[in-house]
Amino acid sequence: MLIREALAEDFAGLYALDQACFVPGISWSKAELAYFLKYPRNFALVAECGARQIAGFTIAGTLRREGALLGRLITLDVQPEMRRRRVGGILLEAVEERLRVAGAEVLVLEVAVDNEAAQGFYERHGFRRTGRIRGYYLGRIDALTMEKAL
Ligand SMILES: CC(C)(COP(=O)(O)OP(=O)(O)OC[C@H]1O[C@@H](n2cnc3c(N)ncnc32)[C@H](O)[C@@H]1OP(=O)(O)O)[C@@H](O)C(=O)NCCC(=O)NCCS
Repeated sequence: MLIREALAEDFAGLYALDQACFVPGISWSKAELAYFLKYPRNFALVAECGARQIAGFTIAGTLRREGALLGRLITLDVQPEMRRRRVGGILLEAVEERLRVAGAEVLVLEVAVDNEAAQGFYERHGFRRTGRIRGYYLGRIDALTMEKAL
């Protein structure tokens, strides 16, 4: 499996994968995906397998909070048929390495309270719960905030 930067020609594949990963309203519109891909402090990585098949992708970035540089995981999407084969773990490790090099001390993220698979995945990767944001998704589903020291 190859981990590489996302390219402009990946857009349709990334959009389709995000639609396959999240219910309408939580999955992004094309405009939202384009915004997160282009935002200057963000980067996007693709896990490619076989004949240029996208097995998964991630978008992450950096932000400043009280003077400290934080990493933020914006999304991490793995094809349903490719799950539990370490694709997500490899993408997450690539994000963590890139953020460490950039000087980030902590990686933060939000995950829906009903997304037990992702919570299990993040806990396995050393994240701890730090809080809860009411109505973060669709105005009615809470998010858990999680973080991990880099
Ligand atoms: C969460 C997600 C990215 C995990 O990707 P993945 O490639 O399946 O993860 P890995 O194979 O690297 O899993 C590593 C470990 O994480 C944990 N884990 C992964 N999926 C899990 C699940 N469904 N339930 C519980 N633990 C899980 C396990 O400990 C797993 O190790 P194991 O398979 O040896 O038990 C994937 O399920 C996904 O794309 N979900 C839909 C999109 C999503 O919710 N993204 C996160 C948004 S915040």
